[in-house]
Amino acid sequence: MRTYLVTGGAGFIGSNYIHYMFDKYGDEIRIINVDVLTYAGNLENLKDVEGRSNYTFVRADITDKDAIAKIFAENDIDRVVHFAAESHVDRSIKNPEVFVNTNVLGTAVMLNCAKAAWEQPDGSFAEGKKFLHVSTDEVYGSLPEGNGYFYETTPYSPHSPYSASKAGSDMLVKAYMDTYHFPANITNCSNNYGPYQFPEKLIPLMINNALSGKHLPVYGDGKNVRDWLYVMDHAKAIDMVQEKGRLFETYNVGGHNEKQNIEIVETIIDTLLEILPENDPRRANVSRDLIKYVEDRKGHDRRYAIAPDKIMAEIGWEPETMFKDGIKLTIKWYLEHTDWMENVTSGDYQKYYEDMYKNK
Ligand code: NAD
Ligand code: DAU
Repeated sequence: MRTYLVTGGAGFIGSNYIHYMFDKYGDEIRIINVDVLTYAGNLENLKDVEGRSNYTFVRADITDKDAIAKIFAENDIDRVVHFAAESHVDRSIKNPEVFVNTNVLGTAVMLNCAKAAWEQPDGSFAEGKKFLHVSTDEVYGSLPEGNGYFYETTPYSPHSPYSASKAGSDMLVKAYMDTYHFPANITNCSNNYGPYQFPEKLIPLMINNALSGKHLPVYGDGKNVRDWLYVMDHAKAIDMVQEKGRLFETYNVGGHNEKQNIEIVETIIDTLLEILPENDPRRANVSRDLIKYVEDRKGHDRRYAIAPDKIMAEIGWEPETMFKDGIKLTIKWYLEHTDWMENVTSGDYQKYYEDMYKNK
């Protein structure tokens, strides 16, 4: 039975990935989920898998060498899928240091512990051991409007402390591959959306605000472009890269689904009005009048757009979920999981929201 060590599995993409893997492989695999449970990590995301005999949760910090080494010592880990990170650009602008610590140092610890566990006396690595580093298209910087794509060969040009720290972590993975022939892959994916995304990110924040009649804060002119991918298509890509990808390669993941932010916000409003029953009291709150253009994000990247040619041609991956279906699925999920939203927005979230948006 193959054993996966998943870091950050209680977060948005990690928890969707764990669901994807158990749906696909059932009892054929074992997953150990290592997560320190920051504000973004939530065990409620994994309630339906926690009783499985082939699933284990370990609360640990990826920067804690001893804790991570212990997990490798006690388990014969075959695959690492490394999601754990600080992931929100706005938070990185306010507080960069924690991003460097978790994203750069945490990745170094993960690499070192995997290397120590997997390296054989002659310096080679045991067959079948693989490390997948989950990264982002933001490391490539910003594209001009309507012109060009990010390829695996595009030079890195990160602008925010978040993307700089992710770029640093990618460079460490590349260095381990080049120096030690460490068996790894990197995936650089575009913006994900779907269930369990924390409402600091554009789509769940707008859904949550619209339902409660709060302003919809659109940064700058609202015309920044992001390339949106349904989270389960990302989970599938990660699995396919580990199954079929060439070791030491980077694969860009994205589905050619570019949208301006304002289009996303308007789609959310229109979809809510389409789905919400006439007698639902929240319906009266939902209106385009809630849109408020606010001060722009500092260093705001204008456009991201992934060229997924390599993963499609080499591995046969392609996205399955059209945006018009994915956004409906996502909005329905949030409407059906109001308890989840209430739980994650109680406590510190109110303070976060006030701090982040007080001058906007
Ligand atoms: P998230 O913020 O929802 O989840 C991050 C998870 O990591 C949380 O469960 C958190 O508790 C955990 N974590 C944070 N610091 C930790 C530490 N020191 N030790 C152990 N666990 C820790 O993030 P996400 O959106 O699910 O992103 C997951 C990964 O995918 C990140 O590496 C991110 O850079 C990358 N990525 C995200 C997107 C996107 O659109 N969200 C797109 C491309 C790549
Ligand atoms: O591209 C992949 C990246 O996508 C991931 O690596 C990051 O982890 C993930 O957070 C995401 O980064 P973005 O900065 O693109 O996502 P965010 O949801 O924060 O913002 C999307 C766009 O919406 C961006 O142009 C900023 C804008 N925005 C965001 C918020 C939260 C607003 O206009 N208003 C808002 O309140």
